[in-house]
Amino acid sequence: MKAWHWVLPAWLACVWFLPGLQGQGGAHAQGTSLDVLHWWTSSGERRAADQLSALLAPAGVQWNDAAIPGGGGMAAVKVLKSRVLMGDPPDVAQLIGSTLSEWADVGLVLPLNAVATRQKWPQVLFPTVLGVVSYQGEVIAAPLGIHRINTLLYNRRLFARLKLNPPHTWADFENVALKFSASGIKPLAWSDEAWQVATVFESLLLAEAGPVLYRQMIVQRHSAAWMDPRVEKALLRLRWLRSLSEAPVERVWTDSARELMNDSAAMMLMGDWASGELMAWGASPATDFACVVVPGTAHMHLYSVDTLAMLVNARHHEALQKKMAETISAMPAQLAYNRIKGSVPVRRDLSASALASLGSCARDSWETFASPTAARVPSLAHRMASDEATKDAVAQALWRYLSDPHMEAQEAQKRLASVIRSP
Ligand code: GAL
Repeated sequence: MKAWHWVLPAWLACVWFLPGLQGQGGAHAQGTSLDVLHWWTSSGERRAADQLSALLAPAGVQWNDAAIPGGGGMAAVKVLKSRVLMGDPPDVAQLIGSTLSEWADVGLVLPLNAVATRQKWPQVLFPTVLGVVSYQGEVIAAPLGIHRINTLLYNRRLFARLKLNPPHTWADFENVALKFSASGIKPLAWSDEAWQVATVFESLLLAEAGPVLYRQMIVQRHSAAWMDPRVEKALLRLRWLRSLSEAPVERVWTDSARELMNDSAAMMLMGDWASGELMAWGASPATDFACVVVPGTAHMHLYSVDTLAMLVNARHHEALQKKMAETISAMPAQLAYNRIKGSVPVRRDLSASALASLGSCARDSWETFASPTAARVPSLAHRMASDEATKDAVAQALWRYLSDPHMEAQEAQKRLASVIRSP
């Protein structure tokens, strides 16, 4: 059952019955600006959003920023719900993955079929991306970029200082972690924030379980699959990674990236938006940092696709909203935005020179995503595979497991199995 059925009456009131808003809609309808609610507020995210805004201006669309800080969008999603309840939905919202269909179900999302047909999305987008933005035969969002969650970033200077190679297996990882610890260097930047723990865990799960079992657990949501011994191994590894850091610490992901930047930590497990952040601070992938895939996940792409949905509201800005969808999915915006954000274009018609111009992490990400033989699996932590409530329940179960040193991995497995429900 959708937790969302309260939205419809609120939305109807907002669009049709609130006279104040009807009047306001008339005034706004003449304007050229669109209210955009999103959670891109770190330096790299901000630069990427500013880049979109700069590209939209010549197309006659003003980006009116309504950013809500908070990595992973926990706060932004809450603000969006309350704006809808108050009868004031923004024109555009960063709605991603499975949560898109919940909003489409209650009629809040403007279909973009005409834009998709005109821009030949079925031919130029990756089929997986087209799947993410399609629901019941309609296209319901404009895709921006593909993030790779199974990314391990490392500090080049620290690895060079200890003459170490980046890890490709968990045995390598354990070896370099011990060497960094012995030299008094923190091996891994860490945060206990629930969404960050979930982000790390799903990469470990993919590494242990492989794509077939991962899909059974995350996509088909078979409770029983969560009792597989490989899940226990992933949970034990999660606890071991946690033990590499000092006392529990819940902090924003940019603080961990800062440790990597200033030589306080050697590695970080995070989606590739962290590389966009490091670049925004002036770090260079050539000399300062680099990335490899999380050990055990070579030729696998654990993806999160960022999308903007155009919301139905009383301001009736449909023409502008469609213009925005068209501009951000076109090649110039795709290249400019994704280079800054750390993600890769959602389009498969990238020229060889455009591909060569991407950094090595991004190139490997795009090539893996494009490869017919690679495994593409959706991120649970970033809403690609479940509703908001299930994602939050999984993150909380993992958080509890890490906060309670007495909880056995098998107990955590049982709890995970019980919060996972078939879609
Ligand atoms: C993800 C989002 C990314 C990224 C990250 C951290 O959910 O898809 O664009 O910026 O959160 O805020």
